[in-house]
Amino acid sequence: MVERGSDSRPGRSGSAAAGPDQSLYRPGLEGVPATQSAICDIDGHLGQLTYRGYDAATLAARSSFLETAFLLVWGELPTADQLEQFEQEVQMHRRVSFRIRDMMKSFPSQGHPMDALQASAASLGLFYSRRALDNPEYIYGAVVRLLAKIPTMVAAFQLIRKGQDPIQPRDDLPYAANFLYMLTEREPDPLAARILDACLILHAEHSLNASTFSARVTASTLTDPYAVVASAVGTLAGPLHGGANEDVLTMLEEIGSEDRVELWLDRAIANRQKIMGFGHREYKVKDPRAVILQRLAEELFERFGHDPMYDLARRLEEIAATRLGPKGIYPNVDFYSGLVYRKLGIPCDLFTPIFAIARTAGWLAHWKEQLGANRIFRPSQIYTGCAHRDWQPLEAR
Ligand code: ACO
Repeated sequence: MVERGSDSRPGRSGSAAAGPDQSLYRPGLEGVPATQSAICDIDGHLGQLTYRGYDAATLAARSSFLETAFLLVWGELPTADQLEQFEQEVQMHRRVSFRIRDMMKSFPSQGHPMDALQASAASLGLFYSRRALDNPEYIYGAVVRLLAKIPTMVAAFQLIRKGQDPIQPRDDLPYAANFLYMLTEREPDPLAARILDACLILHAEHSLNASTFSARVTASTLTDPYAVVASAVGTLAGPLHGGANEDVLTMLEEIGSEDRVELWLDRAIANRQKIMGFGHREYKVKDPRAVILQRLAEELFERFGHDPMYDLARRLEEIAATRLGPKGIYPNVDFYSGLVYRKLGIPCDLFTPIFAIARTAGWLAHWKEQLGANRIFRPSQIYTGCAHRDWQPLEAR
């Protein structure tokens, strides 16, 4: 029998306290490099975000979501021919099987759209079960299919839960415009579609956040890309991650008016409550995406009318800067995105699914990168449970 402490493998101390060195443990893996990646870089002190070396703010202003997705996955901006082909292929694969739509009709209408999306994304693996992870054409096809079908599935569930039939995608509309069309059956205003496209670019990638880590762990088992995206969707849904954008609006509604902000915030801080849409593991300044989203919100208000909730949000940001700013806690990407989506007429519980539509690009980039230098993730742990115990029969307990 091997006794505790007798293991001489690397990482084992060999002391009575067997297992990895306790001093290496970092809760939440803070500061621990878990992979090498060439996709995205964050300077959390300067507030800079780059995708494949390009400033995300420039991409949001000058690129399109599909062009950015191509850049993220394949590492270079596409040529005009490559982009045209990519856009056409995504457009051709937008429809989802009637069987998936029928499956979605059996989902409870009060269920959260993120749960519906996770189940629907996973179900794609049943329809496209061939797996050829070393074949570039297979990877291209899977990227196209997922980018094409995720928005259709989000829009389909939105209509199905209202008792309506899903709307077929419109082939003549670009990516973001088509999504808004599938939600409303109305061709969107070009400014609204452009702003949604910019939001998708800003949410497309953000290095090794929780959902991307989840995607990479799943990818490392060499499972199919639909399982990779489904696991990432499940991770994004949580309120500490993508789900925070919904909670920001709930919080602003709870505060109610500008004159209540200070009292509300001080109480929340005293109760050690997390202020939704604030704080980030990487950023110690205002998230650069929040800066752009705030600008986009203002552009929308100028065109389609002001939202008083924006004044409340700005007041909260101003007062929070004096309370939380000294700890490096400032608005993150989720703080202003909800106000943009609200102005676009999007229901609150679709904010996180829209985040998922965008982040699918980043997840797929990480899936491809993981496959290129794969080793299955299998970290160690610090065991804190009981030492060996003798089993007791029921009557002796
Ligand atoms: N409100 C108040 N205090 C905060 C906040 C906040 N939003 N965020 C962090 N803090 C405080 C914590 O209370 C803690 O204080 P302490 O040291 O006195 O105990 C300290 O800052 C460190 O906080 P952690 O939660 O340990 O920081 P971590 O890096 O683990 O978490 C996170 C980052 C999850 C984003 C956190 O800031 C948070 O919960 N924010 C609110 C939820 C949110 O907006 N999430 C969206 C993030 S962006 C995204 O995922 C797309």
